[in-house]
Amino acid sequence: MSLLEIKDLKIHYPIRGGFFNRVVDHVYAVDGVSMVVEEGKTYGLIGESGSGKTTIGKTIVGLEKATGGEILYNGENILDPKVRKKLEYNKDVQMIFQDSMSSLDPKKRVLDILAEPIRNFDNLNEEEELQRIYELLDIVGMPKDSIYKYPHEFSGGQRQRIGVARAVACKPKLIVADEPVSALDLSVQAQVLNYLKNIQKELNLSYIFISHDLGVIKHMCDYIYIMHRGRFTETGNRQDIYGDPQHIYTKRLIASIPQINPKLRDELRKNRELVDKEYETYYNDYYDESGRVYPLRQLSDTHFVAQKKGGK
Ligand SMILES: Nc1ncnc2c1ncn2[C@@H]1O[C@H](COP(=O)(O)OP(=O)(O)O)[C@@H](O)[C@H]1O
Ligand SMILES: [Mg+2]
Repeated sequence: MSLLEIKDLKIHYPIRGGFFNRVVDHVYAVDGVSMVVEEGKTYGLIGESGSGKTTIGKTIVGLEKATGGEILYNGENILDPKVRKKLEYNKDVQMIFQDSMSSLDPKKRVLDILAEPIRNFDNLNEEEELQRIYELLDIVGMPKDSIYKYPHEFSGGQRQRIGVARAVACKPKLIVADEPVSALDLSVQAQVLNYLKNIQKELNLSYIFISHDLGVIKHMCDYIYIMHRGRFTETGNRQDIYGDPQHIYTKRLIASIPQINPKLRDELRKNRELVDKEYETYYNDYYDESGRVYPLRQLSDTHFVAQKKGGK
């Protein structure tokens, strides 16, 4: 059985305006997305800023309310807070944020930061608790004496590793990682990504990995979900998305990956021009009257792409 099943999830925010401050319209931040999360796999959510990635992530961990749809865990809908509590969902599903400076309490020492989830969810005595905290520091490569320090005493990369340690403190099953390395230098990014991969193997964790960086997504993910204006334009495995992109928006994303090899640069620039031309010419085939992408249709066992006008 799958770990998590997201069905037709919608999150709409009201826009108020006018003299009476009535609801005049809605932001369709997330507008009918479905996905299945299996154990031990990584799912990438990618798309430009404002496409709805963080809103999906926050809704999965219960930080945001859904307007419609279901998120099933052990067959029950965790959008109901009572169900979340009953299933120990808040222990099993954790989130890592981009900005560890604001997500770690600056007034707490690492000891207390890491002890908090353990006290909330596990019943350990003092000695076992300290043992667990040392283990956690060890799996993210931080020295034991980190427990006496405060978040500001670490570098960005070290802080993010402490954020990872906190997220895995109670052996979760799923972690939503929202741009976990976007604020870090390239060399440090690779290090944090490797810790995430190692921990995944050890705990058989699943990740929902949010990023706008196609390189990072390719490195980390088994399945990729391209988000655009609150919907998926295309979903598939690495080969489907990077080797055989179908939707014009996916093609544009892939064509925009910077090329380091100078020999390939010319070729890529030409490709980009072709894709841009295709986008201008066929725009109306890919978007409905209100500018939104059409529902997905299946191309293969793994590959789905948004339909074109007229259901093609
Ligand atoms: N609390 C909110 N109220 C109103 N609009 C919101 C709120 N949170 C997010 N949005 C809007 O929803 C859309 C999706 O935002 P977000 O999920 O943060 O995108 P992403 O993470 O892909 O950059 C954006 O248009 C954003 O402005
Ligand atoms: Mg975001």
